[in-house]
Amino acid sequence: MPEVLAPGAVIGIIGGGQLGRMTALAAAPLGYRCHIFTPEEDSPASQVAERTTVASYDDEVALSAFAASVDVITYEFENIPVDTVERLSKLAPVRPRPSVLAVSQHRVAEKDFARDAGAGTAPYRHVTSFEQLRKAVEEIGRPAVLKTCRFGYDGKGQVKIAAETDLAEAWESLNTDDAVLEGFVSFEKEISVIVARGLDGTSRAFPVAENHHVDHILSTSTVPAAIAPETEAAARAVSEALAERLDLVGLLAVEMFVTSDGKVLVNEVAPRPHNSGHWTQDGCATSQFEQFVRAVTGLPLGPVDVRFPTVMQNLIGDQVEQWKTIVAEPDAKLHLYGKAEARPGRKMGHVNRIRVS
Ligand SMILES: Nc1ncnc2c1ncn2[C@@H]1O[C@H](COP(=O)(O)OP(=O)(O)O)[C@@H](O)[C@H]1O
Ligand SMILES: [Mg+2]
Repeated sequence: MPEVLAPGAVIGIIGGGQLGRMTALAAAPLGYRCHIFTPEEDSPASQVAERTTVASYDDEVALSAFAASVDVITYEFENIPVDTVERLSKLAPVRPRPSVLAVSQHRVAEKDFARDAGAGTAPYRHVTSFEQLRKAVEEIGRPAVLKTCRFGYDGKGQVKIAAETDLAEAWESLNTDDAVLEGFVSFEKEISVIVARGLDGTSRAFPVAENHHVDHILSTSTVPAAIAPETEAAARAVSEALAERLDLVGLLAVEMFVTSDGKVLVNEVAPRPHNSGHWTQDGCATSQFEQFVRAVTGLPLGPVDVRFPTVMQNLIGDQVEQWKTIVAEPDAKLHLYGKAEARPGRKMGHVNRIRVS
């Protein structure tokens, strides 16, 4: 297996969502083909990829055949069993490596990792019983946030522990024995950085995005972020340090809080393209998807300069109907995901509004 995959090589992508779709779209101009592995028929990614295997994530036979048909395997979805990915890595290179997935799948592993890398985090305690929850709340104080360690997204699987919250009820509501209690951070801003690291060990962090959530779902990402240059530099440096420590090949999205005294605390990491990096498609010298393809195929990374100040707005549920007016705006770039049904809370597309002058 040569280090650099030549055009014509096949990138196997586990997961068929919009991140896979936009990765496949970015792979095409570089001459790569994509093979999607997803349990879903007519997925957003399969609509634009050369080939799709529709099978469940635990279908060993289908996974082996998939691995045999590709030159490199990556993923756009992180809740794939690590065992499965370990097995696949014997058949084809998996980038990022399976151990990266293990860190990002568990909130305590993630926080331990960030802390060991010297990054700041909210105070936290691993909680596996009601008794431990009581003790952790005594140590950390209220307000706090109790989260399931696995499978949480868009604010699901978490409950705020306010002054008046009944702890027993909160514990019952999560319905797990693997949770983390985090001190509540009264942050000034939420920001994120997407960092790419290539096969040669070079890391390159994209400029910081400032994120605004509505109902726990990302609503907008704005670049440049309205933060001090030192805060921008610190956020990018910590992200590069995390990528380095993971020996990452691919992308790492790092969600962070900025506190009122300008400190940067790491909240979550995801080893894949990220919603808060979509602005790069129209506002940056290289898009996060092209950078992802470059990293996993061994190409040199592209430049990450901001070309246009950009606001990315998600189109969630029936907001997708706005496509009609968006397509008439001169400096708006529409990206739809090909999902047939606009259910509430479902990410249907996004728009990047660039400031050209
Ligand atoms: N410790 C915390 N302090 C304050 N706000 C938090 C804390 N943890 C999470 N939040 C808020 O909840 C949102 C979702 O939490 P997060 O840990 O990112 O989980 P997910 O994105 O997987 O649902 C964050 O973007 C932030 O707005
Ligand atoms: Mg998050």
